[in-house]
Amino acid sequence: MAGVPVDPKPAFDPVARAFSVEGVGAKLRLRGWIHRSRSSGGILFLVLRDRTGSVQVTARKDRVGETAFRAAAAAQIEGAVALEGMVAEDPRAPGGREVRAESIEVLHAGEPFPIFQDQTEEFLLDKRHLAIRSQEHVMIFRVKAAVLASFRRFLETEEVLEMTPPILTGNPAEGGAEAFQVDYFGRPGYLSQTAQLYLEALLFPHERVYAITPSFRAEKSRTPRHLTEYTHLEVELAWTDLDGLMVFLERMLTAMLHDVATRIPDELKRLGRPPAELLAIAPPFGRLPYAAAIERLRAEGFKVAWGSDIGTAEERALTLSERSPIFLTRFPRELKAFYMLRSPADPKTVEAADLLAPEGYGEIGGASARETDPELLVERLRQIGAPVQEYEWYLDLRRHGSVPHAGFGLGIERVVRWMLRREHIRDTTPFPRTPARHTP
Ligand code: 4AD
Ligand code: MG
Repeated sequence: MAGVPVDPKPAFDPVARAFSVEGVGAKLRLRGWIHRSRSSGGILFLVLRDRTGSVQVTARKDRVGETAFRAAAAAQIEGAVALEGMVAEDPRAPGGREVRAESIEVLHAGEPFPIFQDQTEEFLLDKRHLAIRSQEHVMIFRVKAAVLASFRRFLETEEVLEMTPPILTGNPAEGGAEAFQVDYFGRPGYLSQTAQLYLEALLFPHERVYAITPSFRAEKSRTPRHLTEYTHLEVELAWTDLDGLMVFLERMLTAMLHDVATRIPDELKRLGRPPAELLAIAPPFGRLPYAAAIERLRAEGFKVAWGSDIGTAEERALTLSERSPIFLTRFPRELKAFYMLRSPADPKTVEAADLLAPEGYGEIGGASARETDPELLVERLRQIGAPVQEYEWYLDLRRHGSVPHAGFGLGIERVVRWMLRREHIRDTTPFPRTPARHTP
């Protein structure tokens, strides 16, 4: 572009350049953080990390000078340095190459880094602001960023518009018991549990909308799949029924899995998920009606009957031997939210589906067609004991051009937990919020 100054030679090189095809023999200027440090005699061995990777650096006292050498050798793990040096082949170095420093400057020597091996989970959570520098965390959050970017690309291609619904709300949407209440200038306010009701309002002018927002659940449940704050991707589509919505959702999830598997296969591999397993997933996903699921569970010895909730253990049993996600469909009305469409074929059930991840991971998404009849909505609100007048604005949507529509919400951390086979959901978010912890 004319007028935009372009720096022909950036002041610093990315560490990854040391491993590029033309890397050997190249003179690089690097800066970053000391990941490991060891000195022996007049030689200092560092592993230097930046956002693009890490590389072994050797600095010889006779090369970089006594003062610089001493300063670099005294710098702590996670201290920051800048250096200049030549890339050389060295079979003993990780990746088979090292940088031989010609000069080195300590930018911040740092204090002794408090994190090292074999510390307790609690201690690491107390020091989470530092623990997130670990290679494992770096890779996990790279995957999470790739997941979000990929979903956004898909949604843009499908002409679904990103919206910014509020997080502070005047009425809880998914059931008051699990909403965090805040003092809103002397009146009750609530942290959003879902953007859905607002997305439904925005659907009438835009027809296809989505939002990625934090959702809050004041559930005291300490389980490996619950956070009190999580990243919620929600989509709302006009002119769609449950079957159409499931087709959209399975296409969206598959597109993301294939995209991430293609873009960052190394991170996936190193985190324990062979990319080929994600590439093997393809629509259509299995559809298991709730009634059939109950039958299956009974046959496996679960004490459930029609009307029973499908909990963690049940979901696990239903998905343990699956390799692809499945939809669990058409639940009893009483188990589900007030806004779900009564099934035309069976008024005891609603047009809802849970998306279950395979391998026992369980629910990662919730979907439904929405009730369009204001009277049926009022009836359901009364049944669950909700204050109908607070939903007046939502009922208005059914009074002015009410049309068939459907939507879903995906828990991003749940998706990443399954993709990366993490035991606990807290591994998938940098600063996990759980009943026991909201700091750092
Ligand atoms: O099933 P849920 O409660 O559905 C809704 O909130 C709908 N209003 C969404 C919509 O249709 N727009 O939540 C949706 C998803 C769940 O399937 C799960 O993946 C995730 O959000 N989720 C949680 N993730 C982490 N921690 C929690 N406590 C979660 N609660 C729900
Ligand atoms: Mg759900």
